[in-house]
Amino acid sequence: MMPSQANVEGNIHGGEIMKIMDSCAYAVTRRYARTNVVTARVDELQFHQPIKVGDLVICSAKIVFAGNTSMEVYVNVQVEDLRSHTPPLPALSAYFTMVALDRNSKPAHIPPLEINTNEEKKDFEAGKARYASYKAKRQHEKK
Ligand SMILES: CC(C)(COP(=O)(O)OP(=O)(O)OC[C@H]1O[C@@H](n2cnc3c(N)ncnc32)[C@H](O)[C@@H]1OP(=O)(O)O)[C@@H](O)C(=O)NCCC(=O)NCCS
Repeated sequence: MMPSQANVEGNIHGGEIMKIMDSCAYAVTRRYARTNVVTARVDELQFHQPIKVGDLVICSAKIVFAGNTSMEVYVNVQVEDLRSHTPPLPALSAYFTMVALDRNSKPAHIPPLEINTNEEKKDFEAGKARYASYKAKRQHEKK
């Protein structure tokens, strides 16, 4: 992380990392959907560890749930202090909901998510429950 991304104390602005997370969620879902995707929602964003100038940030993202046109992605950020030999530490995490769009910017169907392990099944079911609760909330807000 660079000095231009930090405050006067040398801490990196949260928004800088959130932008990296958004890009990471975009890349993973754009690759999966093979069409344009947009961010519709961010949930459970947590800052576990401060990030300083000179730290290495490692961002990874995994699709945990896929609906008809939307995907939920778990985005995980680790931070590594390159001035020490300390292993990377958990820094931020969040769930991003990304929606696939067709050429007319209308929600586009995506392939069903392949589930191979028990852990993936557990994550999928948890994602499905959150998806159902967001849908119910949106329906309620529309009334
Ligand atoms: C996201 C967006 C395309 C949804 O459009 P919409 O006409 O409301 O679409 P729908 O109601 O048909 O929903 C499409 C899918 O998105 C999901 N979705 C839409 N808004 C959502 C929200 N706020 N939270 C969670 N899921 C949402 C729906 O559940 C649905 O999923 P499914 O097809 O898997 O069942 C539209 O709201 C949009 O363009 N938002 C702005 C996105 C953007 O510009 N992001 C960058 C921010 S700078």
